[in-house]
Amino acid sequence: MRVLVAVYSKTFNTLKLANAIKESTGADLTRIEDRKAHGFIFSGLLAMLRWKTAIKPCRTDLKDYDMLILCCPSWARMPPGAVNRYMADLKNVEGKKLAVAVTMGSTGGDQVTGRIRKVLEKKGMRYIDNLVLRMDDVQKGAYFQSAGQFAARVKSKAAMPYVVEETKQKVGRVMRILNALIKIVK
Ligand SMILES: Cc1cc2nc3c(=O)[nH]c(=O)nc-3n(C[C@H](O)[C@H](O)[C@H](O)COP(=O)(O)O)c2cc1C
Repeated sequence: MRVLVAVYSKTFNTLKLANAIKESTGADLTRIEDRKAHGFIFSGLLAMLRWKTAIKPCRTDLKDYDMLILCCPSWARMPPGAVNRYMADLKNVEGKKLAVAVTMGSTGGDQVTGRIRKVLEKKGMRYIDNLVLRMDDVQKGAYFQSAGQFAARVKSKAAMPYVVEETKQKVGRVMRILNALIKIVK
């Protein structure tokens, strides 16, 4: 299984996590970097607007890989503009597996994962798993174990025929809806 870890990280929390995932999976790593830096508020605004901001050249062709692990922070509960650009630039992604790792202050990890999943499933990728961590946990060093567990989970899920993983995800979704309905009825 050939894995590419692609990481956008401005203050290095996500980079630390991505490096630990790279070590645990034996993946290659590519850095997604802004061509031009923006300030905090403008960066958040561009992310909210789902803008695609210019990036430096990096590995966007997945022809030599079976899986992409895309790692980025939560910005205004959205992927950063550079990550939007990266996703648009990705080539040879059809049928390839996708996992997502997100760091955040305290909110938005699930929304970021959901957004990345939506964009890349539209391009034909097959989502298998995600990891969301708070920046405090990364800074305290608590990310290493999570990264190892995530890497092991991702590898075993990626080895399964996709139809099994897809069925598990669909059953999980139906169970969540049923539980919500039961709560409403009660
Ligand atoms: C422009 C901007 C917007 C952010 N928006 C959020 C947010 O909506 N929710 C949150 O929990 N953290 C937010 N953060 C904090 C980052 O998600 C968090 O610090 C993350 O770990 C940074 O990753 P990095 O060090 O890899 O750049 C924001 C940070 C920046 C720079």
